[in-house]
Amino acid sequence: MAEMIVTPWEVKGEIDYDKLLLEFGLKRIDEKLKKRLQKKLGDNIFLRRGIFFAHRDLDWLLDEYDKKNYFYLYTGRGPSGHTHLGHLLPWIFTKELQDAYNTKLVFQLTDDEKFLFSSTLSVGDVEKFTNENILDIIAVGFDPKKTEIYTDMRNAKDFYPQAVRVAKHITFSTAKAVFGFENDSNIGKIFFTSMQAVPAFIESVNKGKNVPCLIPHAIDQDPHFRVTRDILPKLGYYKPSSIQCKFIPGLGKDGKMSSSEPETCIFTIDTSKDIERKIKKAFTGGRESLEEQKKLGGNPDICPIYQYFYNLFEEDDEKLEDRFRRCKNGKLMCGECKQDLIPRVQKFMKEHQERREKAKKLVSKFLVK
Ligand code: TRP
Repeated sequence: MAEMIVTPWEVKGEIDYDKLLLEFGLKRIDEKLKKRLQKKLGDNIFLRRGIFFAHRDLDWLLDEYDKKNYFYLYTGRGPSGHTHLGHLLPWIFTKELQDAYNTKLVFQLTDDEKFLFSSTLSVGDVEKFTNENILDIIAVGFDPKKTEIYTDMRNAKDFYPQAVRVAKHITFSTAKAVFGFENDSNIGKIFFTSMQAVPAFIESVNKGKNVPCLIPHAIDQDPHFRVTRDILPKLGYYKPSSIQCKFIPGLGKDGKMSSSEPETCIFTIDTSKDIERKIKKAFTGGRESLEEQKKLGGNPDICPIYQYFYNLFEEDDEKLEDRFRRCKNGKLMCGECKQDLIPRVQKFMKEHQERREKAKKLVSKFLVK
């Protein structure tokens, strides 16, 4: 089995979420906390299915909310390529949080990060993807009156003075220990985490009083926020709370969807034909031959196609279970299962693309000047 690697810049191998939880020191979302969230969010598929499954200090944040000390949301995107389905999932959940709690959202695009950590992207490339990604963010449906999109380089005037306050409290040995940097890592990488910390307290800076912050994110980003949480109290701010999700797998074998392997991801700019081709070619939990599959059944647990139904494309628990069972019993063949998925993904993307077109006119409403 491939070794598990989960860092903010690399996700590889079969992911053992229990182990990650322990290693990172996260708490599982228990029944009580889930119920508390569901009171506001309703019967949310991401909570019900354990896709958002871990957190830091979420109980505290909700206690504060009950005391009318309202929080804001912070999430982000590294503009290293086109947006794919895997990116949309936490954004959709963030939108649901925004609607349910009626909160402000600060959305950060780390254009600096993607330049510093890439061996191929120029500043111009990153800027291009920033503009493209912004359309997808808007297309998710965030409230323009309550959402601010920042990019690190364009909004440096606001961000940099705050980032240096954070940076002063991070030593090179901490950065090495948390992120695995070496002496030959470029110095921009070493500084970068201080930029990702800024949106976790920018609202407090702007408001001139402490405002609680909740960060929804995929679990690989947690190392940044571990550091952020250590430092913010030293600057007089709250530690941010956070809520973590699992990854949507790519259409190839193991790991998350990776833009570096375009045929394993479904991008928001893909045509219906692309979607069909990619799904048809996808890895599955199926057997070598039809006969074998009829006899032995498939393995939905390792199947990305099943994961797509699970994460986004089958809301009905009974129908999902039925699919699982029919696969295991050798009744459902991969070809048929893929045929069920293709039109759902095509429809989802078509609707997203329509909103993405409309987003072009809305950009200025979301950007911070
Ligand atoms: N570093 C993240 C990435 O590479 C982008 C990001 C910035 C982010 N701030 C965030 C993601 C807050 C989640 C939450 O994708």
